[in-house]
Amino acid sequence: MTTKPPKIPEKISDTLRSTAWFGSKDRNGFMHRSWMKNQGTPQRMFDGRPVIGICNTWSELTPCNAHFRQIAEAVKRGVLEAGGFPVEFPVMSLGETLLRPTAMLFRNLVSMDVEESIRANPIDGVVLLCGCDKTAPALVMGAASCDIPTIVVSGGPMLNGKFRGQDIGSGTNLFSMSEDVRAGRMSVDDFVGAESCMSRSAGHCMTMGTASTMASIIEALGLSLPHNAAIPAVDARRYELAQNSGREIVGMVHNGMRMSQLVDRRSFENAVKVNAAIGGSTNAVIHMLAIAGRMDISLSLDDFDEWGRNVPLLVDLMPSGRFLMEDFYYAGGLPAVMREMGRMILRDAKTVNGQTIGENIANAECWNREVIRPLDSPVQEAAGISVLRGNLAPNGAIVKSSAASENLLKHRGKAVVFDGLEDLRARIDDPELDVDANSILVMRNVGLKGFPGMPEVGNMPLPTKLLEQGVRDMVRISDARMSGTAYGTVILHVSPEAAVGGPLALVKDGDMIEIDVKARRIDLDVSEDILADRQADLPKQLPHSTGGYEQLFINHVLQPEKGADFDFLVGRRGAKVSQNAH
Ligand code: FES
Ligand code: MG
Repeated sequence: MTTKPPKIPEKISDTLRSTAWFGSKDRNGFMHRSWMKNQGTPQRMFDGRPVIGICNTWSELTPCNAHFRQIAEAVKRGVLEAGGFPVEFPVMSLGETLLRPTAMLFRNLVSMDVEESIRANPIDGVVLLCGCDKTAPALVMGAASCDIPTIVVSGGPMLNGKFRGQDIGSGTNLFSMSEDVRAGRMSVDDFVGAESCMSRSAGHCMTMGTASTMASIIEALGLSLPHNAAIPAVDARRYELAQNSGREIVGMVHNGMRMSQLVDRRSFENAVKVNAAIGGSTNAVIHMLAIAGRMDISLSLDDFDEWGRNVPLLVDLMPSGRFLMEDFYYAGGLPAVMREMGRMILRDAKTVNGQTIGENIANAECWNREVIRPLDSPVQEAAGISVLRGNLAPNGAIVKSSAASENLLKHRGKAVVFDGLEDLRARIDDPELDVDANSILVMRNVGLKGFPGMPEVGNMPLPTKLLEQGVRDMVRISDARMSGTAYGTVILHVSPEAAVGGPLALVKDGDMIEIDVKARRIDLDVSEDILADRQADLPKQLPHSTGGYEQLFINHVLQPEKGADFDFLVGRRGAKVSQNAH
């Protein structure tokens, strides 16, 4: 892992943002420097060198990011090494496992925190420390709206889970083992015993869940140094990469390399294709749409379908396959995948180290053909996320076919409808529930406004009585999301969601639903007249909220095909602040 040393000009620039704070010898200059000096900062740090913000999502309540103080220290070493002035600042941290009602409710809030923290402070370039699922999109969204030089350093995945001689993956094996307990194949004692075996080192989920997916997308977008996505959190090379990134950002500031000069529509095309090749998370669709929206880059659901349609699944990682992120890194990581993708990748897209993607991956080697397959023998042909439309989802719904059952991708079945998560929990195991293996489970009011926050509940548990019969998968449809670590024939992000009167609200038990992923269709087989009558009977008010941030969210969140951003946050606002109160 080598990077070119950043170019540092002879004369230090006086046009940096930070000069407006630190560059004068008047009352304000005194104020801005003097208080900083209470940290032991020498005067020479204010000589016009780039001030590099290190945006830290460290928190002990975000276990995936709990090692970020050490990562930040490594970044600082790199910034100092290249003649910059590192300043670390916190933003709200989002841990996927603990936050209620769902971490997604707070992604946009954190993006605001990031954007305003950057703009309001004397920061010339920013290093985003990303890890757990929502921390990556939130930080990139906020930085994108400011558009200053930006580089991402991920915390890295945990080491492989190890349980009784077998590798177990974050989330994926939690779901499979909990189904085993419900089906009587695993004892509760063994289940609890597996907890410490699954999460046994620092780092985020080591399946190709949303955290690993977003780290890969960020690398594919050119926003991080090569290999950022896969180096395990505890591998010394993670810290080497963090230090190198600290050096790189100083060079980016000197070269005036803002995010919008690096990332364009081609970068997104690469990232969408990479998401298909790695079997990435469905959540990446929403997050990429939101990031593109912040950058004023046009990106739509149809782009995902079109660009990803013929991309084969090359990476054999859970939940779509067998291996884990540690194996992925040792096999060559994302550069090896992108090199294998050959002409699919737009090689002239730019990256943070001043080289193109093509240059970065030119010599990438693959060391394990089981983990990263050759193009002519993929895990699966055509693994992209499919966008379905029809009278049940006029604005789209998505399905990750690499995590679905082949035989269910074209299916007609009777709807079994749940009105929300509580309803599902109350009735899914009712022996009287009128359901069989051909039924289609439908859940609604779990969307952005309906829940609110669009939780990861789309992979509904199967009825125990069917599990006991050996059923392993069923078609499931909802306006929810699903964890990137989950699997099954799960149709997600149905839009418009039920809570705003989308057709999902009109489905009744026993209605026939037809899905045909190849034809990209999802239809409710009920006449238009009957649907119009049902629509007229729907209540017209938005979900109840207790006020506060939740109210802001319900009032302003856009539907999933628009990235679930707030309407007033879309766009690039830049980093200029014309007023100063002092
Ligand atoms: Fe943090 Fe999975 S829970 S990345
Ligand atoms: Mg997740």
